Amino acid sequence: MSKKALPLGIDVGGSGVKGAPVDLDAGAFAEKRLRIETPQPSTPEAVGDVIAQIVEHFDEIRGDSPIGITVPGVVTKGVVRSAANIDQRWLDFEAEKMLEKRLDHDILLVNDADAAGVGELHYGAAKGQRGLVIVTTLGTGIGTALINEGELVPNSELGHLELDGLDAESVAASSAKEREGISYAEWAKRLQRYYSHLENLLWPDLFVVGGGVSKDSEEFLPLLSLRTPIVPAKLRNKAGIIGAAYLAARGGEKLHADR
Ligand code: BGC
Repeated sequence: MSKKALPLGIDVGGSGVKGAPVDLDAGAFAEKRLRIETPQPSTPEAVGDVIAQIVEHFDEIRGDSPIGITVPGVVTKGVVRSAANIDQRWLDFEAEKMLEKRLDHDILLVNDADAAGVGELHYGAAKGQRGLVIVTTLGTGIGTALINEGELVPNSELGHLELDGLDAESVAASSAKEREGISYAEWAKRLQRYYSHLENLLWPDLFVVGGGVSKDSEEFLPLLSLRTPIVPAKLRNKAGIIGAAYLAARGGEKLHADR
């Protein structure tokens, strides 16, 4: 018997497309990840070419390696249904089918925050947690993953809650902090407003905060006053890649259930 094929996770973001083979026993990258700038405009075809480059880069990825790919939008049955921070040509696009053709390989397409949530659930800050965990990713947008009793409820879009008449992610994502050049203390006031709204609506048992900025969580999490415990993601920016690989290898079919 040959060794089991390693799965590959690929995370498509607004600025970079990143991929790595994943060791599912360890919940860690099996090799150094490869990052390629997201092409502009980020059309499905242009991003598909970058994804193909990433797949080809890793020698250990074989015909039977599961491949999980994230996108920053709602995905139902392989079709992208929202495109807040990505080229509009993804909207209602049969992306899973197109990528399978482009790569000549089965893939699993999943929302980026859902993939990060699954990574945190199996290997990170949400592991072993009972009740409702809300994983949020703070980046270009705000992504959310709802995990109830260890089960992902896919495609929650709580980054787009309306806050004072505005789309929450337009004021509280880490991109808003950068764009407006505000301090952590100023930004934390917005996060306070956002997370208290969320906890009043859903009464979760735990918030997990991911995205690149989670590495600086000490600068803003202690400033928040919430009834819900709030902790930084353990896998940080790796969660999406690890979660996508996990889903492709085990249990991704649930995301495709008829709905
Ligand atoms: C999108 C979500 C995505 C999040 C993080 C939001 O604008 O609507 O689907 O998970 O950004 O990328």
